[in-house]
Amino acid sequence: MAPGPGRQLTGAMTDNRTRETTRDTTRDTTRETTRETTRETPENTMTVLVTGATGRVGSRVAEAARDAGHEVRAAARSGPVLFDWTDPATWTDALRGADAAFLAHQPDVGSPGAAEAVGAFARRAGELGVRHLVLLSARGEHQAHATEDALAAAGVRWTVVRAAWFAQNFSEGPLADAMREGGELVFPGGEVLEPFIDVRDVAEVVVAVLGAGERYAGRVLEVSGGRLLSFRDAVAEISRAGGREFSYVPVAAVEYGAALRGFGVPEGEVEFLIDLFETNLDGRNAYVSDGVREVLGRGPREFSRFVDEGVAGAAWKR
Ligand SMILES: NC(=O)c1ccc[n+]([C@@H]2O[C@H](COP(=O)([O-])OP(=O)(O)OC[C@H]3O[C@@H](n4cnc5c(N)ncnc54)[C@H](OP(=O)(O)O)[C@@H]3O)[C@@H](O)[C@H]2O)c1
Repeated sequence: MAPGPGRQLTGAMTDNRTRETTRDTTRDTTRETTRETTRETPENTMTVLVTGATGRVGSRVAEAARDAGHEVRAAARSGPVLFDWTDPATWTDALRGADAAFLAHQPDVGSPGAAEAVGAFARRAGELGVRHLVLLSARGEHQAHATEDALAAAGVRWTVVRAAWFAQNFSEGPLADAMREGGELVFPGGEVLEPFIDVRDVAEVVVAVLGAGERYAGRVLEVSGGRLLSFRDAVAEISRAGGREFSYVPVAAVEYGAALRGFGVPEGEVEFLIDLFETNLDGRNAYVSDGVREVLGRGPREFSRFVDEGVAGAAWKR
């Protein structure tokens, strides 16, 4: 079996009860408590702490935020702003002076310990005067609900952006590496349909939300691409456009977990991932969400555009 997603490639799924885009009003108290103390002018330029800033989404959030005129503090364990979710000693310096922050928890928004870390981080952010926190979450990932709730309970203006499976999983990171090396995508995605989202759309939504003051405070925004595709469809589309044949090999989640174990992924993480894939890749994500249009006033980027650009950029060349 080809290498698996390991740490970087998780999240993204859904269940039907998560399709709502507005949290219940009991969770909206932060809107009232922060209103008096925050600047409300949406056009304000801000200092934005971007976690996961070297990753698929964070790098695009940093870019979009800079394009919008904000000052970016690009944070990761590798810097330039040192930040580690597992080391609270790094949080204060990363947060100090920031007006807002984008939170991409690692290894996953729903992984063990995520709720505790995000809750503590959000409270620290509030103490330091950070006014708006945007959490990257995953559509329908029930394991992520505790993390979202911890954010909402922290007393800081918050927004959750729940994303569909990223298109860039096929072009960046371990799954893409495996495709390039072995010519196949081995994955427990069965024949389920998923509206893959371009992470640039996720990033633009995040930055628009941050720039909109109170408008999306206390909201859960679900974002997806505009077209349902199976993993097999996606791989076939990449093959057609790129002129290199890739195959899709669906496997059971437990089989996939065994392979991850073989690659040295810690047991707790393997168990989490098996549960995640068994629940989130059962077809529950087979619907499109309108968050991109709601926030950006346009539809999401087409998967075929992502593929064409990837081919042009040699994303699937050996
Ligand atoms: N994959 C999907 O389809 C999908 C869909 C919806 C939501 N999500 C969520 O998206 C997030 C992943 O985002 P991504 O795909 O952009 O990540 P990614 O490409 O895997 O990049 C990970 C980023 O996080 C940093 N990082 C890794 N471990 C860290 C730690 N312990 N503390 C602080 N930073 C750390 C990495 O830099 P360093 O290694 O230098 O620290 C890197 O910047 C997860 O929360 C996941 O649940 C994923």
